[in-house]
Amino acid sequence: MDQQLYDFGMIGLGVMGRNFLLNVADDGYGALGTDINEESVSALNEEGKEMRVKGVSTQKEFVSLLSKPRKIMMLVPAGSIVDKVIEGLLPLIDEGDVIIDGGNSHYDDTNRRYEYLKTKNIRFLGAGVSGGAKGARLGPSIMPGGDRSAWEVVKPILETVAAKVNGEPCVTYIGESSSGHYVKMVHNGIEYGLMQLIAEAYDILKRVGGMGNDEMSELFAKWNKGRLNSYLIEISASILKRRDDQTDEHLLDVILDKAKQKGTGKWTSQSAMDLGVPVPTIDCAVTMRAISAFKEYRQDNSKLYVDIHPELPDLHGEGLAESVEKALYFSFITCYAQGMQLLAEASVDMKYDLDLEGIARIWRGGCIIRAEMLEKIRHAYGTREGLKNMMATEEFRHDLFDCREAIVEVTHQASERGVPTMCMSTSLQYFDAFRSERLPLNMVQAQRDYFGSHTYERLDQKGVFHTAWDAQVIHKAGDETDRLGPKETGVVDPTDTQKA
Ligand code: 6PG
Repeated sequence: MDQQLYDFGMIGLGVMGRNFLLNVADDGYGALGTDINEESVSALNEEGKEMRVKGVSTQKEFVSLLSKPRKIMMLVPAGSIVDKVIEGLLPLIDEGDVIIDGGNSHYDDTNRRYEYLKTKNIRFLGAGVSGGAKGARLGPSIMPGGDRSAWEVVKPILETVAAKVNGEPCVTYIGESSSGHYVKMVHNGIEYGLMQLIAEAYDILKRVGGMGNDEMSELFAKWNKGRLNSYLIEISASILKRRDDQTDEHLLDVILDKAKQKGTGKWTSQSAMDLGVPVPTIDCAVTMRAISAFKEYRQDNSKLYVDIHPELPDLHGEGLAESVEKALYFSFITCYAQGMQLLAEASVDMKYDLDLEGIARIWRGGCIIRAEMLEKIRHAYGTREGLKNMMATEEFRHDLFDCREAIVEVTHQASERGVPTMCMSTSLQYFDAFRSERLPLNMVQAQRDYFGSHTYERLDQKGVFHTAWDAQVIHKAGDETDRLGPKETGVVDPTDTQKA
C-alpha cells in the first residue's frame, strides 16, 4: 500500500507547477499533482507517463495518495486563491502535515497564514521560487521561510530539485514566518532594477550610438562572457537577434513599449519606504513601468516637445559600447547593493535573522537575477559581519571607482539627446549621495523648522534646537522683531516629541 503513496504533492498544474513536479520526479521521488483544470491534469499525466508521476482531479484523492507527513506545495496565483486552497485542504489533512506556498504571495498574507495554520498545527512554509517555467523544470532557486521543522521535512526534496552551483544547492532555510516571501519580493525588486537598466543600456546604444539589434546582440553576448555575466544579459542578447515570424523584422521592434507588472517590484519599494531604506534604482524601475503605461500621453508630448534638443551625431565607434558596459556594471552593483541593504534592515526590523551570505549564495543559480557578480556579493557578506551596504567594501569600491567616469559620460550623452536613463542616472545619484559626507539636507531641516517648528540638530553642539526664523522677516518689515525674535530661538526640551 505504502509503495503507491507519493512523496510530494502539487496543487496548481500550470506550466510552473507541472515542471516543478516533473523535476521532483526526475530525482526518483513519487510526484502527485492536482488542478481544477482537467486539461492541466491530463497534461501532467502525459508529460510524466514514463515517471512516478500522477495527476488526479479531486483534492480528496490527492490527499489520500500522499505519504505522511504530507508535503503539499501550491503554485497558484497569489491572493485569495491561496486562502481558498488552504481552506479546501484543512478538513482533509492531518496535524503535522506541511503546506508550502510557492507563489509570489505578499509577505503580510504569508504572516497571516503562518499564524493561522499554527493554530491548526499545520506546518507552513512561504517559499519564493524563481527561474520561470524553465527554472522549475531544470532547477530553480528556492527561498523557503516559515516553520523550521517543516523545512527539515522537505529539505531533501527541495535540495535535490534546486539548481546547483559548484555542487551547492540554490535553496536554504531563510528564516521564520514570511522571510522567504520577503526575500523573494526583494529578489524581484532587484530583477525590476536590472531589467530596466539593461533596457536603458539598449536604448543608449540604439539612440545615442546608432547601433542595430544584431550588433547589440553580439555586444551583449560578449558582455555575458565578462563581469556582466548574468541570465538577464544572456536572454537580452538572444531577444535582440530574434526575428518576427510575421514581418521578418526584429521581433523586439514590433513589441509594444508598455511594460506590465504583477506587483512584487512595487511591494519592494513600498516596504523600503516603510523601513526608511533607500532603493531608488528599484523605485525608478517601477516608475518607468508606470510611465510606459501612459503611451498616449507620451505620444502627444513627443509631438509637443519635438526639437527640444539639437541634432547630435551618433557616437558609434567612439568607445560608447565600452562606456555603456561600465555604466551598466556600476548600476548593477548599486541595484544589488540597495536590495541587500533592504534585506539587512528588514532582517532586524522584522526579526527574520537573515543570512545575507546564504541568500547571495542561493541566488547564484536558477533564479532570474543569477549573475557572476553574486559570487563577489556572497564573499562580501561572508567575510564581513554586520555588513549592510556592500558599496562600503574594498572590492566594490575599486569597481565603482573604475566605472564612475563612464556612467557620468553615458548619462550625460543620453540626456543631451533626450534619451531617458532614469535608473542608470539614479544609480549614479544614489552612489554620489551615499559618498557625500555633507548633503544639503541641512536646508531641508531649516525649512522644516522654519514653517513647522520641527526643530533641528547642530553640528557643533548636542541637543535639539528651534529658531524663530520669522523674526528676520518681521524685522525687515519693521515691526515686532524684539518681541517674537530671539526669545523663541534656542534649545528645545527633548521630551517635547510633538515638535521633534
Ligand atoms: C521569477 C520571477 C517571477 C515573476 C515574473 C513576473 O523569479 O521567476 O520574478 O516570479 O512572476 O518576473 O513579474 P512581473 O509581472 O511583476 O514583471
